[in-house]
Amino acid sequence: MKALILAGGRGTRLRPLTYTTAKQLIPVANKPIINFVLEQVSSAGIKDIGIIISPETGSHIKEALGDGSRWGAVISYILQENPAGLAHAVITARNFLGNSSFLMFLGDNLIQGGVGALVREFSAGRSDSIIQLKKVRDPRQFGVAVLGSRQEVLRLVEKPQEPLSDLALVGIYLFNPAIHAAIDKIKPSWRGELEITDAIQQMVDSGRRVEARLLEGWWLDTGKKDDILEANRVVLDEYAVRRVGGSVDAASEISGRVDIASGAVITNSVIRGPVVIGENAAVINSFVGPYTAIGKGTILEKVGVEHSVVLENCRLSGVERIEDSLIGGNTRVNHADAGRHACRLFVGDDTEITL
Ligand code: DAU
Repeated sequence: MKALILAGGRGTRLRPLTYTTAKQLIPVANKPIINFVLEQVSSAGIKDIGIIISPETGSHIKEALGDGSRWGAVISYILQENPAGLAHAVITARNFLGNSSFLMFLGDNLIQGGVGALVREFSAGRSDSIIQLKKVRDPRQFGVAVLGSRQEVLRLVEKPQEPLSDLALVGIYLFNPAIHAAIDKIKPSWRGELEITDAIQQMVDSGRRVEARLLEGWWLDTGKKDDILEANRVVLDEYAVRRVGGSVDAASEISGRVDIASGAVITNSVIRGPVVIGENAAVINSFVGPYTAIGKGTILEKVGVEHSVVLENCRLSGVERIEDSLIGGNTRVNHADAGRHACRLFVGDDTEITL
């Protein structure tokens, strides 16, 4: 069994961050999203991993993930010249995939509990594909599945205008090599992409055995700013631990699950977990509230921040209240005078804001 992780695409909904990085590398709880994916793939026992990359951000992905040895795996990078669809990504990876069955995992999706059970079931069973579904409130922004009375897959539609069911396709699929012939039969969709959803429908239509599994735990598709904040919240809720690696002075108050990395310095501040603070960050005369991740080397001075993701090497000062914000690396936010306003920010790398 191999794995194909998709880390191409343009990430337009996460601009300006994605001008300078891949969306799959945006961290939640100070860890890039794709690292969670690699951990789950590797702990399902799959060590031969292909990663689809784009010309724009491929070098960032390669640099961040290396050869895969960190996960006991071997990574092959596969360049997809254009983001022409998920099925197009599979075509691009044909040399790598050969005649293997494979797990396909979208590199910006996170699920609770991993993929071990799914991979074991597929390996032990006789189906041509297993798709993972999740009940959602608004399925129109996803691929949607209609199941029959025995939970068999009847119909799959990509981003339907009228919701046909409340079952969305989670970006995790298992295929045997029959998927390749199905892809060869499909045409680009209305959005000009070769859709994996259409290829799976093609398998159903030609009598192939496609099974569905319902995901009970959480699923996070981190395509937009608020999705990243939600992912940060959920991941901190689940994984944050209390660990104080840096230094905290006597005037500071730390409560709950707060993870302070080595070299970080907390001075005269209040920190309420779940929170993670990266290496060599500094928090001075500040308040850091729940569900916040502060990146490496970032400095906060006289700042209140909560429910936010602040990336590396930022310098925020004199802002009473920052919330629900995603702040790119190297950003500076300064306060010109002593106003008391809440701020909502979504700014890119190297931005400077004076309020
Ligand atoms: O997130 C789940 C949804 O993912 C499913 O419900 C849909 O059925 C499926 O089509 C897909 O929809 P999106 O429109 O959200 O996919 P997106 O364009 O965001 O791409 C998903 C990932 O795949 C993302 O990490 C970028 C990567 N990608 C995308 C395309 C189109 C590639 O590597 N190559 C591509 O050509």
